[in-house]
Amino acid sequence: MKYFAVIGHPVAHSRSPIIHQAFAKQFGHEITYARLHAAPGGFADVLAAFQAAGGHGVNVTLPFKLDAYAICSEVSDRAKSAAAVNTIAFSKRGLIGDNTDGLGLVDDLSGRLGLKLEGLSVLICGAGGATRGVIAPLFEAGCRHIRVVNRDVQKAKQLCIDINNVPHHGALDACSYSDLQALKSGQGFDVLINATSAGLAGQRLDVPDVMFAKSRLAYDMVYAAKPTVFMEQAMQAGCADSSDGLGMLVGQAAHAYALWHGVMPQTAPVYKDLRAAIDGQ
Ligand code: ATR
Repeated sequence: MKYFAVIGHPVAHSRSPIIHQAFAKQFGHEITYARLHAAPGGFADVLAAFQAAGGHGVNVTLPFKLDAYAICSEVSDRAKSAAAVNTIAFSKRGLIGDNTDGLGLVDDLSGRLGLKLEGLSVLICGAGGATRGVIAPLFEAGCRHIRVVNRDVQKAKQLCIDINNVPHHGALDACSYSDLQALKSGQGFDVLINATSAGLAGQRLDVPDVMFAKSRLAYDMVYAAKPTVFMEQAMQAGCADSSDGLGMLVGQAAHAYALWHGVMPQTAPVYKDLRAAIDGQ
């Protein structure tokens, strides 16, 4: 038996235990996977207690991905670029940190949604941790140009400076929503990604309709039982396709599973079951 957990605040909603148990079933592995709540400032203590009790690794969710990055003794280049860790393996060498969020997004885009990412241009709305976590993997998957648009444009520019400090193959730049309005008749993007929390407050983004109409896919990193505000905005504006982020969630879990167990689970059946469970709620 191996012991895993997800640490967050809040954490009661987390679907990670269901996803990891479904993966374990594919291989006949015996695992336990718990939800561990930590109060703000309490991440390190909860992590240490779980390790001392015989834990093998943890996933880390909001708001502790930066704490997890700071505490690891080794981190992957992906995690460095994101300055955030969502997966920790306990090893004799210490705490080994990685960030599988971007891999989950790339797999969902190129697998389930069938996009060829080579040469694509991507617009990401928002300049928080969610955006930081996916840029390097999108470039590694072949995306040619990523533009980050944010209300606070300085934050987006700083994010680009930080990420451009780590070598990558692609063009990364930042702009404001009013810059997008100025661009609207000319430049389009193949994929539009929502990495903001605007939809959670029921708000639409100030992205011109024509940009949705020209793009192949609008992808919301948030998932829900019904189309999100961003998906509705995209489809009403004539976007060819839209998706929520449930596939990204399953994909990031699959890559965490591979790090811990050395085998890559199948995501499609787990996505299908989870989709049915969420939509049926
Ligand atoms: P996370 O770490 O999950 O990415 P975050 O760091 O709080 O979360 O970032 C939230 C993002 O959503 C920010 O980029 C924020 O924009 P600002 O930096 O300009 O505040 C963006 N956001 C939140 N509400 C928004 C709205 N109504 N319209 C546009 N962007 C919004």
